[in-house]
Amino acid sequence: MNAAHDLDALKRAAARKAIEFVRDGMIVGLGTGSTATHAVLGLAERVKAGLKIRGVPTSRETAELARRHGIDLIETDDAWSIDVAIDGADEVDPRLNLIKGGGGALLKEKIVAAAARRLIIVVDHTKRVPALGTTFPLPIEVVPFGWGSTARQLETVGGRAVLRRRNGEIFRTEAGHYILDLHLGRIDRPAELETQLNLIPGVVETGLFVGRTSLLIVGTPNGIEVHHPPGA
Ligand code: 5RP
Repeated sequence: MNAAHDLDALKRAAARKAIEFVRDGMIVGLGTGSTATHAVLGLAERVKAGLKIRGVPTSRETAELARRHGIDLIETDDAWSIDVAIDGADEVDPRLNLIKGGGGALLKEKIVAAAARRLIIVVDHTKRVPALGTTFPLPIEVVPFGWGSTARQLETVGGRAVLRRRNGEIFRTEAGHYILDLHLGRIDRPAELETQLNLIPGVVETGLFVGRTSLLIVGTPNGIEVHHPPGA
């Protein structure tokens, strides 16, 4: 078994634990990425066995996956009453603050997280870091107009802002925006940084999720760990 395969098995095991928190009748936020995919597939199995839920997907990819596997979706945009959202993350710090957006779905993910009563984050153990920014750049969704100038403004906060590309083309989010990956290094005060970045014209949303995690489920080679935010 190779390392990537091992990690995928840990993501799957953690996702299976997360879906135990889903009960009949719930409205469930469905995250995006390889870990969230395991949660969606696990929920689909429970739906086939009779569980009644409705999902709010955080990307077209997740919507398609859920639909294909028989999960009913809420497709309207009026106020949702999401009981629980289950999603992955790119980094998790000891206070359970996150960097998200590796898959480019951070805007919908944050809207769904904000609308959910509980946010369950599912990761493999490699995503836990002593401080955010140490292994992953911070994705920032920006409007295409003037993105170069927005990038310079972001760099006044620190680090280097790199326009995300995929297969040589500029990566576009589902909302048609660009992503600037800000290579800042260690982020000591994520809440302050989030406020600072949100004040820059052109910034739509940042991949910092501060104080939003209700529960963290980690797949480790020694089993599953469940963590609550400090002070909860
Ligand atoms: C997508 C995300 C994902 O949750 C994050 O990138 C983790 O992905 P994976 O579970 O594939 O490691 O934020 O925008």
